[in-house]
Amino acid sequence: MKALIPAAGLGTRFLPVTSVIPKEMLPIGSRPALELIVEEARSAGATEIVIVISEGKELIRRYFSGESDIKIVYQHEQKGLGHAVYQASEFFVDGEKVLILLGDALVVGCNASKAMAEVSAANGGASVIGCERVPRERVSRYGIMKMAHEFDVAEGDAFELADIVEKPSEEDAPSDLAVAGRYLLDSKIFDFLSDQIAGVGGEIQLTDAIRRMVACKYPFFGYIYRGHRQDIGNPDGYFNALVSYRAKEGR
Ligand code: G1P
Repeated sequence: MKALIPAAGLGTRFLPVTSVIPKEMLPIGSRPALELIVEEARSAGATEIVIVISEGKELIRRYFSGESDIKIVYQHEQKGLGHAVYQASEFFVDGEKVLILLGDALVVGCNASKAMAEVSAANGGASVIGCERVPRERVSRYGIMKMAHEFDVAEGDAFELADIVEKPSEEDAPSDLAVAGRYLLDSKIFDFLSDQIAGVGGEIQLTDAIRRMVACKYPFFGYIYRGHRQDIGNPDGYFNALVSYRAKEGR
């Protein structure tokens, strides 16, 4: 298994500090948030990690330059998450799993990636998408999942996925289960991304490519990981990440 960390976003929700430091490099204790995400990938079993950056985020390249298992690729145009992920396609071969960890999503309190790898192994190598419950009025900010067989899911539960939709309105949302920054996908995703057209916000959405894979009957599971995603792409989320990291990890 190899990992892919999209970290090319411009950090506009966290200006002005992100004009001099990428949001992914903001410190959590004495280490950049991105290093904690790299550690999560390694301890989940990733043998190589590709980080997707953009011009102006060379600090990331410099910081990890001594790490032989880390490769850097560029996204030269801001065309969406699906487009960023596609920039790393050359590193992955058919039949391999791609562990995607969003560079601005810190998961505190568990190794979500490791747990997802276990869920995949227990389900015949199916793709697994990490998720969390969100309040109904916030579903339009996320990718939202539809369960194949409805049941009352709780933390630690996995369920078969029937559909997924990016940033639906509250009325159209098939559930309150939101994609939460971690994906373990069959490398076929790159074939689907290669001709993915733009969706919500005029961006090439990873969710849309996953939706087409699900429609083609590739097996997918959702998994509500234990622990909490902190969005470090804005000041409030970053502050919460610091507080919860200190409380949970004791550092
Ligand atoms: C991205 C994904 C979305 C997901 C979210 C949080 O959205 O497109 O499906 O729910 O991350 O992991 P963004 O926050 O980049 O708008």
